[in-house]
Amino acid sequence: MNYKIAVLAGDGIGPEVMEEALKVLKTLESKSDISFTLQEALVGGSAWQEYGSHLPEETLKICDDSQAILFGSVGGPTDELNLPRWKDCEIYSILALRKHFNLFINLRPLKMFSALKENCILKKERIEHGFDILCLRELSEGIYFGDKETKEIDGQRVAFDQMFYREKTIEKVAHKAFQIAQTRKKKVTSVDKANVLECSRLWREVVSRVSKDYSDCELEHLLVDNASMQVLLRPADFDVLLCPNLFGDILSDEISVLVGSLGMLASASINDKGFGLYEPPGGSACDIEGLDIANPIGQILSAALMLKISFGLHEEHDRIVRAVEQVLAIKYRTQDILKGERGVKKVSTQEMGDAVCKFLV
Ligand code: IPM
Ligand code: MG
Repeated sequence: MNYKIAVLAGDGIGPEVMEEALKVLKTLESKSDISFTLQEALVGGSAWQEYGSHLPEETLKICDDSQAILFGSVGGPTDELNLPRWKDCEIYSILALRKHFNLFINLRPLKMFSALKENCILKKERIEHGFDILCLRELSEGIYFGDKETKEIDGQRVAFDQMFYREKTIEKVAHKAFQIAQTRKKKVTSVDKANVLECSRLWREVVSRVSKDYSDCELEHLLVDNASMQVLLRPADFDVLLCPNLFGDILSDEISVLVGSLGMLASASINDKGFGLYEPPGGSACDIEGLDIANPIGQILSAALMLKISFGLHEEHDRIVRAVEQVLAIKYRTQDILKGERGVKKVSTQEMGDAVCKFLV
C-alpha cells in the first residue's frame, strides 16, 4: 500500500527535525510492505523567500493532492518579527492551512515515558501513578478566527479580537471528545471561562447536553484558570481535556512540561474526513536552528500519529513509539531532556533520529 504525504518542513528547526522523521518513515518502508510518496513543499518564511507568499499555490496544490500533511514548524526569530518574511507568517501559513482543510480538532497526547520520569518537574508523589492526558483542542473557531482590527478611538489605538463559537462546532468537537474518551478512561474534562465569557457559557451548556448521549463517561467542567492549576496538581486524574482554541493552545504548552520538554510532543489536526496535518507543537525555535541539538522526537511521534489516525496503521505507529521508548531507555538524550542523571548520553538531532531507526523493528 502506498501513501502520499505532503512534507512541509518550514522554518527554524523544522527542516532538521523533519529530516529525522523522514528517516524513520524510510526505515519503516524498508521493513514493511508499506511505501510512502513524499512530496516536499515550502511553507512559512522559507516559502516567502522563494514565492513572496507564506503559503504558495504550489504548496497548497501538493497538500490537496496528498492524503496527509507532515508539518514541521513556521515562524521567525523574535527580534525579526517585523520583517516582511516573518510578519503574520503563522496566520498566513499554519492558520490558513487549518482553515483550508477545516481541521477542527487538534489532538495532543501527553503520556509519561517511564524513562523520563526523572525529567518531570513535579514531585514524585504527584506522578507515582503516571499520567495519560489527551488534550483535545477545538481548532477552527474561537478568538483565532474572529474579526480583528485596531482603530483609533478618542486619540488612541484600540485593538479588538472577536471570539466566537457556533453551537454546531462545539457539538461536533464535544461528540468527538466523548467518543475518544470511550476508548480511554471514559472521562472528559471540559475547560472554559463560563464565569465571564459568553462563548464559554454556550460551550458549557452544549458540552453538558452532548454528555447525555454518553452515559458511560464522566464529565467534569473546570474554569481555565483553575484547570491550569489542577492539571499540575493531579495529572493522573485527567483523561480527555476538551478545550476551546485559545485555552487549548495555552494548556497544551503548560502540560508539556510534565513530559520534560515541548520537543517530545506530537500533535494531529484533523477534519471530518480523517484528513490530517501532523506537527510537533513546539514551534520553530530559531535560536537553536542549525545547531543539530533540537529534539526530533516530537516530529517523529507526529509522523507516527499520522500513520495511526490518517492511514489506520496502528501497528506501525506502535512500532515507532516502542523504538522511541527504547532509545530513551538506553538514556539517549537531546539537550532539552538532558538532566543530571547518571549514565545518560548526550546526542545530537541526527544521532537521536539514527537511534530511533536502529531500534525500529
Ligand atoms: C500551536 C502554535 C500555533 C497556535 C501558532 C504557531 C499559530 O502555537 O500550534 O500551538 O497558536 O495554534
Ligand atoms: Mg501553541
